[in-house]
Amino acid sequence: MSSTFGTLFRTTTFGESHGKAVGAIVDGCPANLPLTEADIQPQLNRRRPGQSALTTPRDEADQVIILSGTENGVTLGTPIGLMVNNRDQRPGDYGDMAAVPRPSHADYTYLMKYGVKASSGGGRASARETIGRVAAGAIAEKWLKTRFGEISIVAYVSSVGKISAPEIAFETLTRERVDENLVRCPDAETARRMIAAIEKARDEKDSLGGTITCICRGLPAGLGEPVFDKLEARLAQAMLSIPAVKGFEIGSGFSGTLMRGSQHNDAFIQKSGRLGTKTNYSGGVQGGISNGEPVVFRIAIKPVATIGLAQETVSLDGSPVTLEAKGRHDPCVLPRAIPIVESMASLVLADAALCQEYRL
Ligand SMILES: Cc1cc2nc3c(=O)[nH]c(=O)nc-3n(C[C@H](O)[C@H](O)[C@H](O)COP(=O)(O)O)c2cc1C
Repeated sequence: MSSTFGTLFRTTTFGESHGKAVGAIVDGCPANLPLTEADIQPQLNRRRPGQSALTTPRDEADQVIILSGTENGVTLGTPIGLMVNNRDQRPGDYGDMAAVPRPSHADYTYLMKYGVKASSGGGRASARETIGRVAAGAIAEKWLKTRFGEISIVAYVSSVGKISAPEIAFETLTRERVDENLVRCPDAETARRMIAAIEKARDEKDSLGGTITCICRGLPAGLGEPVFDKLEARLAQAMLSIPAVKGFEIGSGFSGTLMRGSQHNDAFIQKSGRLGTKTNYSGGVQGGISNGEPVVFRIAIKPVATIGLAQETVSLDGSPVTLEAKGRHDPCVLPRAIPIVESMASLVLADAALCQEYRL
């Protein structure tokens, strides 16, 4: 079960980093949705490695193939099989690391859990696993747009290390604007400083973390279940399941603790045809259910583990080792994580919307 996500819109991902292919099976996507590879490929292109000087040089085209579940460009209501071949496998890059679990990676814990692990590149713990999520998320997003019209789910890099973007106006935020620079921060001046910091970390064979903000607009009120499957609980699970994500906050999040109730309450106001709120400290979710305001959340991503810089550690038999990772790695994974965050949000929202339609 650990590779499956969703109640009605269910996604199962498969594949290891240096195996033959990665992908997903999407079960529960409604029938008669127009769908071809062209609907999925743009988000995979935004995720793919080798897309810029800031990302890993591993060169993968990441062309998706729809194996099943559609005919004549529409979904049949049957499981949709999605596959992306791995082309640029280089298991040899990891030979020296077989006996040395990478500090803060998943090598040691996978070995403890299964007694065996994929020999190279993190296996299932590699970010290549997220290709299946991004492909499935593109389908979920297409269904949401078909069902609800003008929905927009846009994530951007809001900080890298200690460099933070100023407040970004939600109303003008689009994926095109986010993609205007390599780091995917829609404030050009902040983006320049972030890029310089990432290049410095890369040249020093080190890595940097940061935060991503995601804004989902155009959602109806009423999505999310009231107790264990609260919308923010499902979003938190989805986001924390992305490799290297270490924190999640919705709306005012931790900063809300610095305010008083009188400042923090989102007063209701009449908006066109519905009740809305004047402020949105709740991040669009109250009592676990969407209130029709934008759903706004932030996630924290750690500085990734695999670095070329020498690290003192021990091998599996306890012998001291100086580890200098070879492989090809991102000095900062945040720009490539943007479509992954949007896709996981789409999976949560499509699933919540289907559960609401069936009143589950
Ligand atoms: C887009 C993306 C790319 C990643 N690339 C790398 C990488 O090149 N090297 C690395 O050590 N970790 C990378 N990671 C993170 C690891 O997959 C992750 O840290 C590892 O599985 C351990 O899991 P944890 O950090 O969640 O505990 C990447 C994560 C994402 C989202």
